[in-house]
Order: sequence, then structure tokens, then C-alpha cells
Amino acid sequence: MTIIPSFSESLDDPGQGSQGTGTVSKSSRDNKPRRLEVLSDKQSRLDQNLELSLRPQILRDYIGQSRLKSIFEMSIAAAKTRSEALDHVLLYGPPGLGKTTLAHVVAHEMGAKIFMTTGPGLERPRDIIGLVHQLEVGDVLFIDEIHRLSRVAEELLYPAMEDFVIDLTSGKGQATRTMRLPLPKFTLIGATTKAGMVSNALRDRFGFVCRLEFYSDEELGMIVRRTASLLGVQVKEEAVKIIALRGRGTPRIANRLVRLVRDFSQYKGISPVDDALAAEALEAYQVDAIGLDPTDRRLLEILIDTYSGGPVGIDTIAATLGEDSDTLEDVYEPFLIQKGFVQRTPRGRVATPIAYKHLNRPIPSMQLNLELT
Ligand code: ADE
Repeated sequence: MTIIPSFSESLDDPGQGSQGTGTVSKSSRDNKPRRLEVLSDKQSRLDQNLELSLRPQILRDYIGQSRLKSIFEMSIAAAKTRSEALDHVLLYGPPGLGKTTLAHVVAHEMGAKIFMTTGPGLERPRDIIGLVHQLEVGDVLFIDEIHRLSRVAEELLYPAMEDFVIDLTSGKGQATRTMRLPLPKFTLIGATTKAGMVSNALRDRFGFVCRLEFYSDEELGMIVRRTASLLGVQVKEEAVKIIALRGRGTPRIANRLVRLVRDFSQYKGISPVDDALAAEALEAYQVDAIGLDPTDRRLLEILIDTYSGGPVGIDTIAATLGEDSDTLEDVYEPFLIQKGFVQRTPRGRVATPIAYKHLNRPIPSMQLNLELT
């Protein structure tokens, strides 16, 4: 399998010093507090190396996302029987859930090459032409952050996806000439954390539109066990549970936690890792028993203490927290909503009784009614 890395700044942003240090860093540009590096949505160089070495190759080794796995199992088998490329796939969901990993697995299962790029990396027509020019029948073209494609790039992609042709234009005004070039039948896999920002026209051209779900504690436990064993760290079963519970349903975060626990146990000279050691290591990084960090807790405090539990608009929360609302919506909120701490209503965000309990605040009577219903 050939991989042409074309990593964008979002995959490895040295500006955020994202090397898994576990500190609450400050951006040098705006001096705003940043999320704990250990829970960051950004993929650091260390994550990238770890993910490359741990990445499952085949669907059978890919843990979780069972609904998607069975769809892919069937469709890949059918496409292979017909000697055809797999239909185009759009993968969406919060960062770190394994969209890139799944794209690699699909390419591997198809016995195809994968070419990787990002939406912003395809700014000019020649960026796309240079890339599709290298494709062979059945190959996978992976476009991360597909919601950031330029309009021109998107329009070039429509006939490429639908009819496997690309229209090249030369000259200007009346002298404009268009030449239609055939392309081999390939599979486009697009990935995004912002499905709402993918245009309808583009979304409609994907045969599969798949949402990746957060992993259950059991699934994350399996990933923690697998990573620990591949890294050669001995971790007792009760420590696996502690790490999995703090991994926010996200393999990238769980894998980072395994790495931190490994460093901590090596530093302390203690092996195998037991529950006390795992908890001590992760408490040092201020990740609480269910994976919330100080910024999550601050968000809940703002909702409950400053805005009486809501409803309050996302922009108001963002301004009070000093974060941008996009980051709140894409990175923090999905997990808080999934865990039932926050509800999204038409009038704004509302803290639930679970959030009051987690912060040890008395539950207001209105919320008590909510709890009973
Ligand atoms: N590593 C990261 N994500 C994984 C997954 N879903 N299955 C197995 N290993 C993984």
C-alpha cells in the first residue's frame, strides 16, 4: 500500500506544542487557555507515530463501530466479487474516533493503494489533477477535513465522483477550452468532524454516509489492552478499566493515556501497572474518573453557576470560557452530550441533573422534575 502523506497543519500543529506533555498550554498568539494536551483534539507527531504503528490492517482487528464494520464487510465483499471499486464513503464524527484508521483498513481490505490529502490541501485545480492522475482502478483517495474544500475543488470533484472524468480548462474568455479526461474507477473516502458544513451536493454523491460513534467502555478497554500489549507494557485488568473509563470514548485519547501510564510506571519502576498507579498517573494530568478535564468542568460550572443551568447560547458560553464556539461544538460538547451532562435545546444549552451531581451542586427543583420524568 502506498501512502502519500500530505498532512495539514491540523494533523500536526507545532504551534500548539502538542507533544503530549499533559500541561494546560497557552497559545502564544492569543494567550487563551487551551485544552489539556492529553485530551486535545489535535493529532501530535507522537500520536501520529503511535497510530501508524498500532493501526489495525484488517476489519477483523478493528475494534468497535460494529454497525459500520458489518456494512463494510458486506460491501467490500460484493465490490470485490464484481471486481469494482467500493462506492464513495463519507465518514463523520468527533476527532480521534478512527476515521483515518478505518479508511486505511478499507483500502487494505480492497487490496488497493491509498492516497491521502486534506480539503485545504486541494486549493487549486492542479492540486486535484496532480492527485487523481496517479490513481489506478480501485484505489482510495482519502480527503480529510473535506468540509474545507474550496468551491473550485468541489466542482471538479463532482464529475470525478459521478462519472469518473475530470474537466480540464485552459485559456480565458472566448478562448476557453475544456478537455474531459477519463479517470479510473476509484473510491473517494471523505472525513469530517463537521458534517453540517459539507454541501448537500457533495454529500449526495457519497454512496455511504457513515457516522462514527463514541466507543463503549468495553471497546475502549479492548483498545487499551491491545495498545499496552503492542507497546510491551504490562497492565492489570483493573488498571485497563481505569484508563478506558477516562478515555472519553475516543481511541486516540485512550492510546495517549496508555502512553502516559507507561512513562509513569517506568519512571516509578513499577510493573505491572495496577489501578492505584494508573489512577495516580492520570490524576497528575487532571483527567478525572470519567475523563473530564478542567475545561469541561469549567464549562459545566459556567452553565450551572453563571447561567443557572441554562438554557444559554453556545456563543455566550464560549465567550465566558474564552474558547471559540466551533471548538466547543466539535470537541467538548459531543462527549458531554453523549454522557448526558448537557442537553442541546432550541433555546440553548441546559445542564442536566447528572452535571449538578458531578459538580456536587444541589439539584434545583425544576431539574429534579426533569430527573423524575
Ligand atoms: N487503534 C485505534 N483505533 C482502533 C480500533 N478501532 N481498533 C483497533 N485498534 C485501534
